Amino acid sequence: MIEVKGLTKRYGERTAIDQLTFHANKGEVVGFLGPNGAGKTTTMRILTGYMPPSEGEGKVAGFDLLTQGLEVRKRVGYLPESVPLYPEMTVMQYLDFMAELRQIPNRQDRVDEVMEMIRIADRADSYIGNLSKGLRQRVGLAQALLHKPEVLIMDEPMDGLDPQQQIEVKRLIREIGKEHTVMLSTHILAHAQELADRVIIIKGGKIVAEDTPERLSAQRAGGGRIYLEVAGDGAGLAEQLGRLPGLGQVRAVSDGNFEIDTLPGADVRGAIAQTVVNGGWQLLELRRDAATLEQVFIELTAGEVEAPAGAAAAEPVAEEEGDAHA
Ligand SMILES: Nc1ncnc2c1ncn2[C@@H]1O[C@H](COP(=O)(O)OP(=O)(O)O)[C@@H](O)[C@H]1O
Ligand SMILES: [Mg+2]
Repeated sequence: MIEVKGLTKRYGERTAIDQLTFHANKGEVVGFLGPNGAGKTTTMRILTGYMPPSEGEGKVAGFDLLTQGLEVRKRVGYLPESVPLYPEMTVMQYLDFMAELRQIPNRQDRVDEVMEMIRIADRADSYIGNLSKGLRQRVGLAQALLHKPEVLIMDEPMDGLDPQQQIEVKRLIREIGKEHTVMLSTHILAHAQELADRVIIIKGGKIVAEDTPERLSAQRAGGGRIYLEVAGDGAGLAEQLGRLPGLGQVRAVSDGNFEIDTLPGADVRGAIAQTVVNGGWQLLELRRDAATLEQVFIELTAGEVEAPAGAAAAEPVAEEEGDAHA
């Protein structure tokens, strides 16, 4: 369980995250989605107790972030953005070392258990330095799970993995997410859409949307596109449809097939169906193309620009949301 209120972090003049309030429940996978520089890593480092916020408060796994950081760290597993692993240690040595640091009882048993769970037992004696990026990521995940954390925080867990490795890591995350509170960051929307029960979208350090992937897509689906098919060539239908209110462009794509742009607001499917039937055409298909989460993400994060590394002062980012073109 994660529950934070008004989390703010400033690096000098720059506000990296600004008044973030959100929660994540047990058994829930929350996707933290945003472009590079949005503040994902900053937030996660605060949630894991590695860095205090400049402002705000919160509880992670039942303990106060500000005053009980040690208790928080005992209950949180953290897969950082770039996993600091020791190349000259074997997988087993490294996990044993981490288990010792964490003072885990029966640590050899637990190391074996975690290696089984993450399916790296067959690499127990491989040097970490010789492992592929995907396997190293799994060792990082094993490390994060050693102490049976209630809350698992993963910063871009799929970054740098090839598609096959991504499938493996996704499977692991889904499994882990059933019992733990999982929060993962990603700048790749498809990953959030596939893995998360709920998505929090951040832009410029602020939350701009929060909902299930399905509802986020549906909310924005007012303005969109309708596909219409009638029997025959549909001659004259485009003209008749053009007279209906609430419609944008009507295009005849091929004989009997039309693409209709709709304006946000009213649902025009009924009116379209009626026009078709009243005009004596035979309606074969009428289907709405809901906005994908991708469109929502692009719309919500438009204008986000990452400041160049080492930039002295942040330039205000111009919003490019003047005219909405559906
Ligand atoms: N240690 C730091 N010192 C100064 N600025 C930082 C530091 N870490 C991050 N930032 C800035 O804070 C903002 C958020 O960064 P970060 O949390 O890394 O975003 P994300 O993980 O979403 O890419 C960025 O503008 C970044 O340049
Ligand atoms: Mg980051």
